[in-house]
Amino acid sequence: MKTPAKTVRDYIRTIPDFPHEGIMFRDVTTLFANPRGFRMAVDQLLHPYTGEDIDVVVGLEARGFILGGAIAHQLGKGFVPIRKKGKLPGATIEQAYTLEYGEAVMEIHDDAIEAGVKVLVVDDLLATGGTAAAGIKLLERLGGDVVGCAFVIDLPELGGRAKLESLGMDVHALCA
Ligand code: PRP
Ligand code: ADE
Repeated sequence: MKTPAKTVRDYIRTIPDFPHEGIMFRDVTTLFANPRGFRMAVDQLLHPYTGEDIDVVVGLEARGFILGGAIAHQLGKGFVPIRKKGKLPGATIEQAYTLEYGEAVMEIHDDAIEAGVKVLVVDDLLATGGTAAAGIKLLERLGGDVVGCAFVIDLPELGGRAKLESLGMDVHALCA
């Protein structure tokens, strides 16, 4: 019998109790390391947005940089990072948030987004939605228009999708 074709999900491993006991950590390094898996993920992430009016791709630290950079390159657009506090060299605006296993502060350069630009937000995983919601807030404070949020993994039981949809966001994810 023919072996079924691998899906993106097949390249992701789950590591129990990282970074804290009780967390089932979805590790995408195995997806990124596999050339077929990585290409599949990037192609599937940008598929709904080909032909859409997108001016810039924004990646959320850290794994959103890897995916967002590849997607921006493929779309022929620029890439803007949203980083954990203290990493960006220029003047920033910041936003505190909570996520599945802690609290943090995100920043964006205050001149990184021009008012009215259409933004695609990219990250590897959507859990509580705290990280993505903070990113969206930063972008909207600068006048950006977030046209979509794309993730490899959505953990819907943690409420992130519902949270982003309640903010009026279009959420695209490849697997749970
Ligand atoms: C992970 C993941 C998302 C976020 C999702 O990043 O890459 O960015 O958590 O969780 P949430 O939906 O509950 O906010 P993490 O904060 O571990 O940071 P890192 O990518 O810098 O390791
Ligand atoms: N970020 C928040 N929850 C996560 C999880 N379970 N695996 C990987 N990244 C995460």
